[in-house]
Amino acid sequence: MISKCLFPAAGYGTRFLPATKAIPKEMLPVNTKPLIQYGVEEAIQAGCNTMAIVTGRGKRAIEDHFDISYELEHQLKSAKKEHLLKDIREIIDNSSFTYIRQNEMKGLGHAILTGERLIGKESFGVILADDLCINTGLSVLAQMVKLYAKYKCSIVAIQEVEVENLNKYGVICGKEIESDIFEISNMIEKPEPKDAPSNLAVIGRYILTPDIFEILRDTLPDKKGEIQITDALNKQAQEKRVLAYKFKGVRYDCGSIEGFVKANVDLFNSL
Ligand code: UTP
Repeated sequence: MISKCLFPAAGYGTRFLPATKAIPKEMLPVNTKPLIQYGVEEAIQAGCNTMAIVTGRGKRAIEDHFDISYELEHQLKSAKKEHLLKDIREIIDNSSFTYIRQNEMKGLGHAILTGERLIGKESFGVILADDLCINTGLSVLAQMVKLYAKYKCSIVAIQEVEVENLNKYGVICGKEIESDIFEISNMIEKPEPKDAPSNLAVIGRYILTPDIFEILRDTLPDKKGEIQITDALNKQAQEKRVLAYKFKGVRYDCGSIEGFVKANVDLFNSL
């Protein structure tokens, strides 16, 4: 039902400099797997077969990662080590990868709008690969696709966040219509704790209906010159139903050093 998943991956990743000078943040590994591969595996589990990746300068490693490396495969075959590339080869064989460049870094909303040509006029998933979500059951995007089948509207994933950290997120205000499902009445990007409408913060998983592109086109940049997806979703929520879903699973903020290190330690310990 949702066949395409968009991966905005054009950010500079300044918090990880100098590591991200020549390597995209999305290629940083948690144990042996790059962040974006976890995201792609999550999208596949949710039923997506087309990965639409919004890249920027210096992101060629992402394209190379999701392409066949004949020389390496040949080498591994003679050393009887083909199993090392088995998972990534399966992904490559069963999914399509499309790319577009975001020429100017004008925010997440702008990155999503840049992806319009890869998506077209259908509802689609969005995964921010630096938010790593780990589940024992259904992946977070798969949980959201299930919800989309029922409500056919835009859905954002949320989690409870400590008040002092709310100014790093989009924060929602809404009415709980089912257990863990909220109908959004208002959304604010990075509010000061005293202005936050709740402690429910949006994380990097979305299902968006295609009218979001038209709204994004009309969304003005913020003070920093960035077009925010939160502003566009807030507008959409004033016109029609937009849901927020308190997902099941653990999320690591791998855009921060602390979250990235914690993900590495936790996943290593669970091996
Ligand atoms: P972040 O806010 O984490 O920014 O972007 P960043 O540049 O990646 O990292 P820092 O803050 O400099 O360390 C959230 C997500 O949105 C994408 C990023 O790639 C990341 O997945 N993004 C952000 C874009 O694709 N384009 C943009 O213009 C901004």
